[in-house]
Amino acid sequence: MRLLTLGDPIDTVGHILTVFSELRKLKGVEAVLDRLLCEARWLAKADAGTIFMVKNDRLVFSLVHNDSLFSANEVNKNFYLNADMPIDDTSIAGYVAKRGEAVQIDDAYDIDPAYPFRFNTAFDVKTGYRTRSVLSLPIKNSREKIIAVIQIINSLDEERNPVPFSKESHAYVSLLAHHAGTAIENAVITSELVLRMMKMAELRDPSETGAHVQRVGAYSAEIYHKLALNRGVCTEELKRTKDLIRVASMLHDVGKVGVSDLILKKPAKLTDEEYEVMKMHTIYGGQLFANAASELDALAGEIALNHHMHFGGGGYPGKITDFENPKMPGPPMRGDEIPLPARITALADVFDALTARRVYKPAWPDEKALDLITSESGKQFDPEVVDAFLAVIDVITAIREKFIEPGVAAKAADKPETAP
Ligand SMILES: [Fe+2]
Ligand SMILES: [Fe+2]
Repeated sequence: MRLLTLGDPIDTVGHILTVFSELRKLKGVEAVLDRLLCEARWLAKADAGTIFMVKNDRLVFSLVHNDSLFSANEVNKNFYLNADMPIDDTSIAGYVAKRGEAVQIDDAYDIDPAYPFRFNTAFDVKTGYRTRSVLSLPIKNSREKIIAVIQIINSLDEERNPVPFSKESHAYVSLLAHHAGTAIENAVITSELVLRMMKMAELRDPSETGAHVQRVGAYSAEIYHKLALNRGVCTEELKRTKDLIRVASMLHDVGKVGVSDLILKKPAKLTDEEYEVMKMHTIYGGQLFANAASELDALAGEIALNHHMHFGGGGYPGKITDFENPKMPGPPMRGDEIPLPARITALADVFDALTARRVYKPAWPDEKALDLITSESGKQFDPEVVDAFLAVIDVITAIREKFIEPGVAAKAADKPETAP
């Protein structure tokens, strides 16, 4: 709950400074954008908003909030909208991204003809929403390059009627946008670093593609979100952990860099001995993050080590405590002894392996994959995780449509190591 009320400029600027330091602590781009949009909307009492990221000379819808249509704290497929538009004068955000100027509109349906753009009513027509006031601002990085546009919609008065954005709210959101670029850029660097680390693993095991790890990270984040809501975890803790889980679960198979190409790329079934060597990737991953320097490292280590453990017993590598002299299988582990983020990643990884096309198998239809996951509830998978996963299946599908495999069919052979 917020104790601060808008009105006192010194308090508000102080609050914005606190937000900057908190944004710097977040790891994933999604978490930074979410916090930024929440704060901008709060400062301007805006009902809705969108953040577009500049990617390949286009504006990609990267986050959408709309309190009238869905809660920003729920698990929602609209967070994974798969759409983009050109950077040009035909749209408000395109104009802002092209020229680097802020635009404020009091009524989207009555735009000053001096502007070259018109408001695109497609979203309003589809949802019945009525966009009125719009405030759109560029976000620049430290080299003054435009990397994103933040657009907030419908400032609300006390009766929740849309009114024009006030001068104060425009100034506060400008201040926020002005300094947000560094936080976004840092998060992009972290995520690119993770993808680069996974690229090394992908070179060894072609099933670990960038798209696969992004999907597993996003699936895990959303499953955790739903499960945490079910458990009544407070919003602040939920968002912080969700951010860490998204990044850490992307690294689940990073230990494959330690397994020989001869095994990972073998175009035939592994022998028992080879399979034992391949299973070592969990221990290598755990070793990589042993003596964790940060919370993210600790979480990545837990996930890498335990993502092949089975909830009801079984799986590998068992309980490993001594990374100097690891013995596999370690003593058995089951249920809550397996860290929750690893139980979540286990399901996300298997679901993605099943429903993605691989050289050795076609993509399984969703129903078949869901049947298997349901039948493994309490055995391979944690029932609480299965329930949360099934409850957000429409979001899972939206994630899959957003992170598509480029030319997966061309990839070399791989082992069905995550498939049952
Ligand atoms: Fe694995
Ligand atoms: Fe994987």
